[in-house]
Formats: sequence, structure tokens, C-alpha cells
Amino acid sequence: MDIFCIDGPVQVSGTIRVNGSKNASLPIMAAGILGAGRSVFKSLPFLSDISVFSELLGQLGCKVGREQNGDFFVDSSSIDNPFGDYDIVRRMRASVCILGPLLARCGRAEVSMPGGCAIGVRPINLHLRGLRELGAEINLKNGYIVAEAPRGLEGKEIFMGGAFGSTVLGTANILMAAVLAKGRTVIESAACEPEIVDLANCLNKMGAKIRGIGSPRLIIEGVQGLEPVEYGVIPDRIEAGTFMVAAAITGGELRIVNCRLNDMMAVVDKLRGAGVSVEPAENGCVVTRDGNVNNSDVNTLPYPGFPTDLQAQFMALLSLAKGNSVIIEKVFPDRFMHVAELNRMSANLRKEGSAVIVSGVDKLIAAPVMASDLRASAALVLAALAAEGTTVINRVYHIDRGYERIEERLNEVGARITRQSI
Ligand code: EPZ
Repeated sequence: MDIFCIDGPVQVSGTIRVNGSKNASLPIMAAGILGAGRSVFKSLPFLSDISVFSELLGQLGCKVGREQNGDFFVDSSSIDNPFGDYDIVRRMRASVCILGPLLARCGRAEVSMPGGCAIGVRPINLHLRGLRELGAEINLKNGYIVAEAPRGLEGKEIFMGGAFGSTVLGTANILMAAVLAKGRTVIESAACEPEIVDLANCLNKMGAKIRGIGSPRLIIEGVQGLEPVEYGVIPDRIEAGTFMVAAAITGGELRIVNCRLNDMMAVVDKLRGAGVSVEPAENGCVVTRDGNVNNSDVNTLPYPGFPTDLQAQFMALLSLAKGNSVIIEKVFPDRFMHVAELNRMSANLRKEGSAVIVSGVDKLIAAPVMASDLRASAALVLAALAAEGTTVINRVYHIDRGYERIEERLNEVGARITRQSI
């Protein structure tokens, strides 16, 4: 198992490039199931989650792999085993988004129910409700979801809002089912995340008929079939946000390339509020911080609100602010595994229900800490860049799920991170 040893404090400075989006790639890989034939997806990052999803597609009967130039291909000419094994689904919850495309393409799917998760209870009731609305019969058998629609799916008006607002992968699942359903489907309270916009654009390029893309109301006219496609995914706005915080927390200057500020308005607004300068530049931006970090209150919300996937990283930044900040997690109310670890680094954080009161300190001090999930581990890396001494982060396999070779890329802009196997 790998650990990171991170020497601080450092100032990161230079140019860093953002990779393709993990959370756009996963549902788009699933869309490869719908276009009977060989699809090619560009800019997919080299991450363990992408490899696991590739393994899942292979298990269904697809031929998958990378071309010399790194493009990912999926040939779904023959899908002979619409089955999602527990051993894969337990490693990555996003596997659940093969349900909709398999049902639409094969009329049947058997996929393991996702298990527990470090960031909180993550039910899929909205996914299942939406598929039932489209006419699928769904049963749970020995921990597996058995979904059947032998006569195909029927378009319907579906409300997809839940207790915490819209659902990203739930919208993806229903969208990928509805594109081949008979008649019109309307998804109300659909997720508007840029990753869902990317998926819908990809599906339309395959021959789907989707309108209202980017809005909470998606209108889908079902079609007979979809064609394979060649498609490039959008840049990863969460990775871009993580790099922005790296510049902010270390008081450095980073030129961030392949970053779409348009997808990150809430994040940029909060950074500027905290005293960080974010200047648009060609194909990206330049992020600097000269003065103090200002305290700032943050509520996480579905897009276009402040993303929950940057909550932990922002908490690390605000732990060094002048004054108190309040962070309220409104998407995953229990997503606070990083709080105790940051306190081990001499932050002053107090959790109250789904809120954390962040009392700013003058400095963070290195300590051995434990990564618990993808974004929590990113926050620990950022805190370690600013902390005095050598921080040791255990279980960095969490960070490899969502950031490609992060230690090498940060070291190229002035960090001092070593990866060691123990
Ligand atoms: C996606 O997860 C992302 N994952 C998550 O990123 C991200 O945190 C999340 O959206 C929110 O932005 C991928 O895209 C692979 P949701 P998803 O369904 O779709 C509740 C990362 O770090 N809910 O939008 O699973 C749910 O419990 C990951 O890259 C129901 O109640 O999230 C949560 O409270 C972590 N019933 C809220 O809705 C349902 O059927 C939003 O979850 C579905 C969801």
C-alpha cells in the first residue's frame, strides 16, 4: 500500500494542466453500451476508477482498451452478459449507471446493489423509481437489482428530485434509458452538472434527441437505435478547483490550463471572496493569493451551486483564514471524514450536525494522517503543502481514484511529495 510523504510549507508556482473529467468519463463510457459498435472516447484520464469501469464493460461482453494515443475504445457490438458483478460494483458505486443503458439495449440487466460509502448513505431509490416509471420491472434478489423490460421502455414524465435535490448519476441512468424508449420522456428536476451536459451532448452525437440540456427539465424523444461515436470529454472542474486551492493555500501562483471557468462560477466566486485572485487566461486562468485568506461561509449544493466535491479542499483553505467560517454540507450531510484528520494537523474545526465551524489558525503543523475517501485525501494533500514539517498520508489509493499521478504533477510546480510503498 502506498503512502505520501509531503514536506511543507511550500509555494506552488508554474503551469499545470487539467485532465479530462472522471465524472463525465464514467457515464459516457456507459453510453458506449447504447451504440452497437466501436466508440472512441478521448481525454479519458488514467485513473483506477476508469480501469474498474473498463473491467465492468469487458464483463458485459464489450471489447475495451486504449489506443496508442491514449484514446479509450469500447466495442459493444455484442453484449452477451448484462450482469454487473458485486466484486466490481463494491469497488466503484458509479457502476450502477450501466443499469439504464443495459435495460434500453438488452431489455434486461442484473447489477449488484451498491454498498456503503465513506461519504454517507447513498441510496439509489430515485434511479429505481425512474426506471420503474419507464416501465421496467425491478426486483432485488440476493443483493442484485434485477431489472426487466422485455417489451422495451415507454416514455413518461418523471420527477427526479430527492431529499437533497437532483441526482447526478440518477439523471444519467434515466437519460440513457429514455433515449431508446418509445415516445417522449420528460425528466423534471434533472441534474444540470456539466458532466450531465457532456453526456447528453455525446448521446445526441450518437443520434439521440434530447432537448433542454443544462436545464432541470430534459425532454427526450425516443429513437430506434444509436450509432457508435467518437467523443472527447470535458476537463475535470473538480481537479481544476483542487489546483486552484493549491495555489491559494500555499500563497503561490499557478497557471491552470485546460480549465473551463464557465463550469466553475460558484467556486471562483468563493475563492475571490476568500481573498484569492482568479484571472481568466487563455484556455484557463491564473490563480494567486498575496494577502490573508478571508473567512467565508460555504453551502454545498447541486450545480450551479458550490460543489460538494470541493468542500473538503475548501475547508483546508479556510482553516488558515482570519476569523471563523461555517461550512454546511447540503448534498452529503455526513461528508466530514477529513475533519478529524485536519484537526490532527492543528486545524481548529468543530462539527455540528451537517455543519462545521472553522476557526482559522495561523499555521498547520505536519502529522501522520489517514485518507478515507477521494476528496478528503485531496484536502489532506493541500493541507500538507502548507503545513510545517513532513506530513505522512496513509491509504493514498483513495486519491489515485480521481487524480492521475498527482504527486508528479504537483512536484513539477514546486511541491515536495514522495510516494512510498509500505
Ligand atoms: C455524483 O455522485 C458524483 N459521482 C459524486 O462525486 C458527487 O459528489 C455527486 O454526484 C454530487 O455532485 C460521479 O459522478 C461518479 P447524487 P452521485 O446522486 O450521482 C441522494 C467524487 O468525489 N440520492 O447526485 O452518486 C444522495 O444520497 C464523487 O468524484 C438519493 O437520495 O450523487 C445525495 O445525498 C463522490 N437517492 C444526493 O442525492 C438517489 O437515488 C446527491 O447524490 C440518488 C441520490
